Amino acid sequence: MAALFSPFRLGGLELANRITISPMCQYSAVGGSMTDWHVAHLASLALSGAGLLVIEATGVEPRGRISPEDTGLWSDDNEAALSRVLDRVRAVSPIPIGIQLAHAGRKAATYSPWTGSGSVPDEKGGWDTIAPSAVPFREGWRVPRAMTRADMEAVRDAFVAAARRAARLGLRYAELHFAHGYLMSTFLSPLSNRRTDEYGGSLENRMRFPLEVAAAVRAVWPAEAALAVRVNGSDFTAGGWTPEEAGVFARALRDIGMDGVTVSGGGVDPRQEIQAGPGYQLAFAEHVRKVSGIPTTTVGMILTPRQAEAIVAEGKADLVALARAILFDPRWPFHAARVLGIDLAYPPQYDRADPKHWRGGDLLLAGLSD
Ligand SMILES: Cc1cc2nc3c(=O)[nH]c(=O)nc-3n(C[C@H](O)[C@H](O)[C@H](O)COP(=O)(O)O)c2cc1C
Repeated sequence: MAALFSPFRLGGLELANRITISPMCQYSAVGGSMTDWHVAHLASLALSGAGLLVIEATGVEPRGRISPEDTGLWSDDNEAALSRVLDRVRAVSPIPIGIQLAHAGRKAATYSPWTGSGSVPDEKGGWDTIAPSAVPFREGWRVPRAMTRADMEAVRDAFVAAARRAARLGLRYAELHFAHGYLMSTFLSPLSNRRTDEYGGSLENRMRFPLEVAAAVRAVWPAEAALAVRVNGSDFTAGGWTPEEAGVFARALRDIGMDGVTVSGGGVDPRQEIQAGPGYQLAFAEHVRKVSGIPTTTVGMILTPRQAEAIVAEGKADLVALARAILFDPRWPFHAARVLGIDLAYPPQYDRADPKHWRGGDLLLAGLSD
């Protein structure tokens, strides 16, 4: 029995296997509302055989979007558009679906990857940004306004309101995006948080606002679903957030009743130095899991079935999240099952492609590097 294909209980959610699909921005929304692209994209991934499909970073308020083309969940229109997409996807697949709720902070109002780079000016649809301190992400980028207590309450309430909408749509998992240099990770990191009030300075102070937001969402998120947080394991920058701090934060998240963490890294400081290779963030996840005991997802170049299997079997992480590998190969879990000797049921429409019915499947798996 492959550990990768064993079930796992995350909060109130029963997952059929340990493979999750990491949230991936598609920059294809209009006014925060999903479009037909999202139907095609999410339906394709819903047929992958993974245990959980997580919808991209979704802005809890308009100024919290990374780009003008990001999805959002602040309005009835956004909710109706998401509901339409969910209806289509659920019509073809029983996969549990979750969503990542996000606020981009000082990295908001930037161009989407294929439309430009850096801050979008007001006259081209950009907007004012907020952050713990009035320090831009990099030179030439928009300078954020340092948040007041009222701003913090507004952001907390926006997370709660979006979570209520997500719960109402029957989403089974929500992941609060507290990583990658977006708003919450800029509170957590000493490189971006220069506050001198009770929300800056010590680790306890830097964690205070993210924990307030997490607790407020916990209070409205259904117990029969799962609620997790994506955290950085490191800023990959001298003087920045560390795996040890991530471990302390994960313990605090567990203590307020969060069901899991996904351990990622980077994005807070442009001076970061990342040596990206297979499993390059796994050590952070392993540390966080060990010191906090909270169910932990690792992400970052999880590429091969045996690599993923070893991670779970050796107890380094409970779940593996795939991003680029599963965009590259949207049937990755089916292929992994074959490699690991597991009989994973294909959708009946695709059953003839199951390698147990034709030699071509195994020849393809063996020959992809030819
Ligand atoms: C197209 C694309 C969009 C992404 N969007 C998000 C996102 O919305 N939220 C997030 O936390 N990470 C996002 N990421 C990062 C991935 O979720 C993942 O953490 C990262 O790509 C490393 O995993 P990988 O090596 O499997 O791609 C994105 C990555 C890609 C490739």
